[in-house]
Amino acid sequence: MKKEIIFDYTLAKTWINEEELQQFVPELKRAHLCLHNHEGPGRAYTGWVDWPDQYDRSEFIRLLETAQQIRENADAFVVVGIGGSYLGARSAIELLCPAFLNQLPPAERGGPEIYFAGAGISSTYLDDLLRLLEHKQEIYLNVVSKSGTTLESALVFRALLAMLEKRYGKANVQKRIVVTTDQRQGALREMTIKQGFASFSIPDHIGGRYSVLTAVGLLPLGVAGVDLQQIIDGATKAYLLYSKESLEDNDAYLYAVIRNALYRKGKTMELLATYEPSFLQFTEWWKQLFGESEGKELKGLFPAGVNFTTDLHSLGQYIQEGPRSFFMTTLWVQRSRSESKVSSMEGNADGLDYLAGVSLHSINEKACRGTMLAHHDGGVPNLKITISEINPYSYGMLVYFFEKACGISGHLLGVNPFDQPGVEAYKEKVFALLRNR
Ligand code: PA5
Repeated sequence: MKKEIIFDYTLAKTWINEEELQQFVPELKRAHLCLHNHEGPGRAYTGWVDWPDQYDRSEFIRLLETAQQIRENADAFVVVGIGGSYLGARSAIELLCPAFLNQLPPAERGGPEIYFAGAGISSTYLDDLLRLLEHKQEIYLNVVSKSGTTLESALVFRALLAMLEKRYGKANVQKRIVVTTDQRQGALREMTIKQGFASFSIPDHIGGRYSVLTAVGLLPLGVAGVDLQQIIDGATKAYLLYSKESLEDNDAYLYAVIRNALYRKGKTMELLATYEPSFLQFTEWWKQLFGESEGKELKGLFPAGVNFTTDLHSLGQYIQEGPRSFFMTTLWVQRSRSESKVSSMEGNADGLDYLAGVSLHSINEKACRGTMLAHHDGGVPNLKITISEINPYSYGMLVYFFEKACGISGHLLGVNPFDQPGVEAYKEKVFALLRNR
């Protein structure tokens, strides 16, 4: 049977052998049991493991209805959030929707323009957004924060709430705001109860960076018109596939083991390489997933991303000839939704006429293969993950593949993959500075 996600490590075999991988089997078994029995470090945040099977169906239907209402009524929809309360939705929309979604004619888009805010403290960005929103008639907000007290998103929500109140009157903003937050507690939950906002819950047992398949990611995606059921179906398929315990049957586990094998050999950085600009934000999501899960106790691979072929003209030099301290994981999409072919040109000035009529995607594929071979020959272990095409189903599968690989990989590394104690350090310093102004 053809695999939906193909994992290939042929171009890493110079660095790792089968015997070494087998040595991970006892640790892998322990990691698998930790996740599936909800045991071990971070067990309180392993709800994502069974989520595709156990998500709340009635909440899902309510979410579809809310998304549809916003889609029908809004000109502009602003999602306010940061980190795990932002990257999933943004990356999925960029991956699954047309590149210039907000610039499309409204009839073709079929829903509102979608903007993101609160993922930083830039006053310029906020001012520019507010200025743009002055030209929109019907503005709706989705504020996403599990704690409700995250500085960046809280500050921006204040500004947007004030703008909505000024524009529509205090009594009329309630129906324009949907809150996604903790089920029971926190500042946003209190405000939601007091002001009667519509709301969705972020389950207690799912941390921010594993939350894209909950309302955190799904509501904005629904507003963007993405088929949410397909995403869930893909994630469910992956949940079944990647719940198998053995290394031979589970490519998510094989990927996790190989990452750790390479790490133990001094490869301390992983570069995710993609060949579609629509993956730029997905790479940011992936960086957060692995970086926050593994980078602790002075351990962990540094997750970085490159967008090819663009970055071959910038970072390509470093990758080919710089220090050999990293490996590369290429994420390749077999079929493009575009069938564009190279045009012929009178006079053949650039000498490329031999490519006339050839599909651009097949040229991109040669670029991918050639690049992997060149980097391999330059001393970079190369892994490859291939999906057949970009669609909601494959997206759901890919998200779950990486989440599962990350949970397992963190356990193999010997850390708690579900906490982020280091994130608090900067917050303490910033709040101390703010209080002592
Ligand atoms: O993964 C995480 O837990 C973090 O990135 C959080 O999602 C991020 O800090 C935002 O937190 P909150 O949802 O509480 O606003």
